[in-house]
Amino acid sequence: MERTKIFKLLQSDSPIDQMLIKGWVRTRRDSKGFSFIEVNDGSSLKNIQVVADEKLPNYEDIKKLTTGSALSVSGKLIESKGGGQKWEIVADGVEVINLAPEDFPLQKKRHTDEFLRTIAHLRPRTNKYGAAFRIRSEMAYGVHKFFRDRGFRYLHSPILTGLDCEGAGELFRVTTLDMNNPPQKEGNADYQQDFFGQEANLTVSGQLSAEMFALALGDVYTFGPTFRAENSNTRRHAAEFWMVEPEMAFCDLNGNMDLGETLIRELATYAMDECSDDLELFAKWVDTALMATLENIAQSEYIRLPYREAVNILSRSGKKFEYPIGFGKDLQTEHERFLTEEHFKKPVIVYDYPKTIKPFYMRVNDDDETVAAMDVLVPGIGEIIGGSQREERLEVLEARMDEMNLDKAPYWWYLDARRYGSVPHSGFGLGFERFLMMITGISNIRDVIPFPRTPSNIEF
Ligand code: 4AD
Ligand code: MG
Repeated sequence: MERTKIFKLLQSDSPIDQMLIKGWVRTRRDSKGFSFIEVNDGSSLKNIQVVADEKLPNYEDIKKLTTGSALSVSGKLIESKGGGQKWEIVADGVEVINLAPEDFPLQKKRHTDEFLRTIAHLRPRTNKYGAAFRIRSEMAYGVHKFFRDRGFRYLHSPILTGLDCEGAGELFRVTTLDMNNPPQKEGNADYQQDFFGQEANLTVSGQLSAEMFALALGDVYTFGPTFRAENSNTRRHAAEFWMVEPEMAFCDLNGNMDLGETLIRELATYAMDECSDDLELFAKWVDTALMATLENIAQSEYIRLPYREAVNILSRSGKKFEYPIGFGKDLQTEHERFLTEEHFKKPVIVYDYPKTIKPFYMRVNDDDETVAAMDVLVPGIGEIIGGSQREERLEVLEARMDEMNLDKAPYWWYLDARRYGSVPHSGFGLGFERFLMMITGISNIRDVIPFPRTPSNIEF
């Protein structure tokens, strides 16, 4: 007999004569000739209650079932006599697939997020992390659906690259050279002898590839892992994170901001529609303001604020900030959060940043001081999207690269895009984990990614 997923059974509108489930014991208790087993199979937050009669031939084994044990149950789905649930299962057969020893770490009590990070291989079996990772899966589908519905093509941009898109030097080197004894050339490691015949690294962004494909397919997006060797131990930075990067031909900064705003609003709506059961857990236990926040993010029109005005608001705020404010200084998390949480109380898109604090590819504005950059800031997190209109003018782009002391040679193909059929184009990157933090109210990036990679942490 084929097994039925528990979420399906819970949605049933009539009793079922014969069915089979497989899953894990969450809890079990005995009472008057019966054993009541709460079973979860990961298909939903909710468990189903199995009633096992002492007349079952292996009842002695059933009574040994511990939390975390795996089992399969055949029987009837009937309307539950007890309160709290609509359906329960009356077992006619219970097979113990695996008996978990008593030291199974996830006994029925609340565990701290910090503790659960030390057992990252088991934490998806808790209610909270099960819900978080079901939401993650559903939202990944939502991202693809959003773009597909709008005619965007999905681009698989490379993970191994020879360039540093952001120019921030936060690269993880990829090499097959013997690090204890690398071949030498003029006193340095000779990367000409390395696998790719040059230095290589893990990508920090798929943008440069996406630009090439936007100029071919029109509207494209990437959605994949990106890597940054930022040595910052914050609750919103991971060394490996996923980024959603749309890139649009014939699109300026306004169109870019429109897409960023629509993306976040629609995905927030999608989450409320498609993940309501799992979201309930977070609204109850993690952030009681969650649903109001999500409504705000889905419904409100986002503030569009030039960087200069953002600086003015921050300077006049009377708030004591740790980091200095002023034209040419990057906005820090504390500034971003002040703007979106305290000042405007809704998402804010800051645009036209000083060119001195932004990468080479952003389009230089007529004032020659700012670039057509935009960051979307949301309550609880700060920056969730970073993007820009791209510099499509060859001479301006080359001058900018010179100004920044970038070696143009390896970018020859990127510059080609400005030689052949160059058009205004724009794009951005949405940090998928930061987005999931916003959706769930989870406050640490380590808890929305299955196996987080942060400084000194790659055990799992
Ligand atoms: O602002 P960033 O650095 O922009 C880019 O990489 C552009 N090339 C994107 C583009 O235009 N196609 O990063 C984009 C977003 C940030 O807003 C943030 O949400 C997320 O990626 N992000 C991180 N998320 C987790 N951990 C990190 N270390 C992150 N760095 C950036
Ligand atoms: Mg950024």
